[in-house]
Amino acid sequence: MSLWISPPNARIGLMKIGIIGTGNMGRTLGGLWAAAGHEVFFGGRRPEAAGEAAVLARAHATAEVRNGTNHEAASFGDVLLYCVRGIDPADAIGDRDVLNGKPLIDLNNRAIPSGFQFEVSPSSLAETLQTQAPNAKVAKAFNMLPQEVFEIERAELQDKHVSVLIATDHQDARIAVEILAHDLGLNPVNAGPLRNARLLESAADLVRYLIARTGPGPLAILSVPLLTSATGSSRFGGRRPSELDGPEPQRIFSVGQHLRVESSGQIDAPVDVLWSFVSNFNNIAHWHPDVIASRLESGTGTDAGSVRNLRLRNGMCIRERLLAISPENHYYKYSVIESPLPMRDHESLVRFTRLNGSRTRVTWIAEFSATGGDAEALANGVKTGVMDLGIEGLTAAATSGRKEV
Ligand SMILES: NC(=O)c1ccc[n+]([C@@H]2O[C@H](COP(=O)([O-])OP(=O)(O)OC[C@H]3O[C@@H](n4cnc5c(N)ncnc54)[C@H](OP(=O)(O)O)[C@@H]3O)[C@@H](O)[C@H]2O)c1
Repeated sequence: MSLWISPPNARIGLMKIGIIGTGNMGRTLGGLWAAAGHEVFFGGRRPEAAGEAAVLARAHATAEVRNGTNHEAASFGDVLLYCVRGIDPADAIGDRDVLNGKPLIDLNNRAIPSGFQFEVSPSSLAETLQTQAPNAKVAKAFNMLPQEVFEIERAELQDKHVSVLIATDHQDARIAVEILAHDLGLNPVNAGPLRNARLLESAADLVRYLIARTGPGPLAILSVPLLTSATGSSRFGGRRPSELDGPEPQRIFSVGQHLRVESSGQIDAPVDVLWSFVSNFNNIAHWHPDVIASRLESGTGTDAGSVRNLRLRNGMCIRERLLAISPENHYYKYSVIESPLPMRDHESLVRFTRLNGSRTRVTWIAEFSATGGDAEALANGVKTGVMDLGIEGLTAAATSGRKEV
């Protein structure tokens, strides 16, 4: 199974998306992903609803848009959006096996109870869906944002740092959702394992309560803004150990400031040429200007779990673990596991998207927590010294070959 379209179709970096149940959310999200260049298949039990969505999407699409039954949509998609609430896929699609191995994004929320008297549920729709389709890769996402939010321009959403919280047990499903969220101008936020879908569904209940009962309207959302620490943070004594804190709360409040940094660029080189430089995790010294040596501590450099040990120009040593890599889909994800920099919980996603036969977009997104010092300076340093410089190095390597090491 491939998440992205492989040659000879040659729309690398873009996905085949199946919409199961084309109502308000399926029609809107499918239309937006079609506009972003993905191939979308609208499925539905009523052909006219799927057909209408396809007509609307084609007005904005840059790739082919199809429509038909839910089963056809599920067969077509490498990534599936499940928009039918509380219905077993065996009934909605007529076949569970067609979901096997595929990321299945569940955006459903519970029915609103009479009088908005929500109860906290001991399980979630997403966990039930995972039980019904045990070989699918269920991810809870997009359920906390009302449809009206998706009508807003991408640039505006990006400017406002609107979050998409993702709960899943599957790394490749998480990456698929991160990429799809990013294409909508939204900030993906790791909300942990699928069990936390319970929290996301309860959060959506709160959002709906706010919308309907207390007046802020459908554009009031719950997001995860990344604030900057106060300069005078100990004006009232700061946070001190409390008898209410066990070891876990202590950890929560000592993680520091969470940062998200992004760098991107377009390079005049075919995607395959660029991929040849990064396809082995241990090859970084041949293209990144700041890395003078890389040594594999474990793995082959092409399998998830490989660990590389880097030496930088300033003498600093950094150890990094490859978390996921997809040669056919041209992305890899890694984590800094040891470094003298004041950071923890680092993850970076590097994605290559073919623009045409000789031009490629590189997107590099890093997330981490700053554990001390000047967080803004750390974020700037990572952006310019690691990511921007890395994209410059890839550009140089693609045009003039490997750098001297
Ligand atoms: N609307 C929002 O703002 C929003 C935001 C976040 C999450 N959500 C959640 O997203 C889900 C979909 O919401 P929506 O607004 O898109 O709802 P919707 O417009 O009512 O669409 C629901 C879809 O489910 C299909 N469906 C219903 N019962 C079915 C069945 N027994 N078998 C097969 N298909 C069935 C409907 O088909 P027909 O057209 O044939 O009836 C329709 O395609 C819900 O769980 C909702 O809570 C909604």
